[in-house]
Amino acid sequence: MCGIIGYVGSRPALPILVEGLRRLEYRGYDSAGVALIDDNLCVTKAAGRLSVLEQVLDLNAPQTAGIGHTRWATHGAPTDVNAHPHTDSSGKIAVIHNGIIENDRALRTYLEREGVTFKSETDTEVLAQLIGMLYDGDLEQAVRKALREVSGTYGIGVLCSDEPNVIVAARKGSPLIIGVGKGEHLLASDAAAILAHTTQVVYVGDGEIARITPDELRMTTLDAIPVAKDVEQIEWSLEEIELAGYDHFMIKEIFEQPEVLENCLRGRLDLKENAIRLGGLVDCTRELTRAKRIILTGCGTAWHAALVGEYLFEELVRIPTEVEYASEFRYRNPVIDDGTVVIAVSQSGETADTHAALAEAKQRGALTLGAVNVVGSTIARETDAGVYLHVGPEIGVASTKAFTGQVAVLAMIACFLGRRKHLSPSAAADFIAALSAVPKQIKQILDTADEAKKVAQQYTDRENWLYLGRGYNYPVALEGALKLKEISYIHAEGLPAAEMKHGPIALIHEGMPVVVIATAGSQYDKIINNMMQVRSRGGSVIAIATEGDREIAKQADHVLYVPNTLEPLQPLLTVIPLQLIAYHAAVIRGCNVDKPRNLAKSVTVE
Ligand code: F6R
Repeated sequence: MCGIIGYVGSRPALPILVEGLRRLEYRGYDSAGVALIDDNLCVTKAAGRLSVLEQVLDLNAPQTAGIGHTRWATHGAPTDVNAHPHTDSSGKIAVIHNGIIENDRALRTYLEREGVTFKSETDTEVLAQLIGMLYDGDLEQAVRKALREVSGTYGIGVLCSDEPNVIVAARKGSPLIIGVGKGEHLLASDAAAILAHTTQVVYVGDGEIARITPDELRMTTLDAIPVAKDVEQIEWSLEEIELAGYDHFMIKEIFEQPEVLENCLRGRLDLKENAIRLGGLVDCTRELTRAKRIILTGCGTAWHAALVGEYLFEELVRIPTEVEYASEFRYRNPVIDDGTVVIAVSQSGETADTHAALAEAKQRGALTLGAVNVVGSTIARETDAGVYLHVGPEIGVASTKAFTGQVAVLAMIACFLGRRKHLSPSAAADFIAALSAVPKQIKQILDTADEAKKVAQQYTDRENWLYLGRGYNYPVALEGALKLKEISYIHAEGLPAAEMKHGPIALIHEGMPVVVIATAGSQYDKIINNMMQVRSRGGSVIAIATEGDREIAKQADHVLYVPNTLEPLQPLLTVIPLQLIAYHAAVIRGCNVDKPRNLAKSVTVE
């Protein structure tokens, strides 16, 4: 989605803006632009990649204040004119904006009646023109007045040539942080954009306006009431957001999984006491153990992790658990009674639908928890309690280590609550021991990553794939199919294996790749039957099986092995070969792995 960067200080702003925009590229965009300011405003923007913009920029520009933006088109096509920054008619004011102004039609009509002529089709220009109309010598005040007229979501940065060295920023529903440096301040929608300059940040809250100059940061509410803010430390390092010799972030993040899962589990698995320690849940443990129902919500990959969570909670905690697409939950009339706990699962902590579902749940009185990766993100801040994934920044658009982090966190919450309900000490001990072995087991799978590459090489010319799984591996089948389709553009469907005979079996034809997760467990015989059904219709079976299974090769065209673990923890292992197949298929097909077409890393609009 769109990205924001801003700088006021004593250094030339442009290289800092361009570098920041480069670090935001992973979020997805289709045009980019910058505005620099001294006595005049100088705006440059271009449709297409950042490199197109760079060709028309004077990289030696001396100005020490400016804003930059990567746009992901919503209102109007990705053209030069529609790219941000947008200016008002006087040419003094420039605005960059993430989010959507929902009453832009009405405001546009009003402004046109007042004589404003629009250059672009965007909702952002409406905001720029409105600020311009309300400006009478005080930029902050004009922004404040304009935002009172606006409905929708925004994270904005605004410049005015009458007030060089000032950026006014504001936020409602779209993340913004202020980086605090020595004699300089930065503005960004994502920490990755400013990490090279500072790790000290102030989070802009919803309904807050920030006015930054090189030496001062002033925060107020929309009603001009001063807000005291703490400066916080970002834990992520620059190295974590760089490729470190890998060809793509996706493969780097797949290979990081052993290490980042160690980080996720560290200090939380107590192998001596056979206990789970979750500091984030201490304050609500009593309320949680009394919960009568759990609703897990999220989108995409996070929703798949939540599905694994449903199985885990029902088995370990014995509490009725449901999983809801956040986008459906927010618009239904969900029943939230006393004792309902809603857990929002999200890598970014900024997904608009998940955030809205959470707000709905809170309004109806649910206790809300977050299983979130990005520290300080909106969902993390707005939930009553939660457990961070601690898997480090995920830059590749296709979620990989966040999925395993989400499953690991849900597994820990399930075991933590299970021990306070029906889970016996010995069952918990087995579970904790098995979970602590997972990082090394993932490493073992990655050591044989070439096997998955061979499968990808053999089948990437096939346009339709099926993924089948049962029980805990059904969500993994969905996740494997999602990974393949989103980065290689091959059509793939994931199914609970038994559903195949109720319709999708009609699709199977000679040579169609069918990935079957057939690990040891309670439904092993049944899944072998499903494999036979596929093969007898000419399908090619790629099985994911447990090491030591000597029989399975007779029923499959290819077998990729994973180490043995408890059934509830299998998704943490079985997903790895599927991530690898998807990655290699995309590379072989020449796709842009880290920035697949039409996709954004963090979906902050509906
Ligand atoms: C798929 C993918 C998406 C996200 C979804 C939710 O690889 O990355 O499906 O999982 O957009 O994002 P978060 O977890 O940030 O809420």
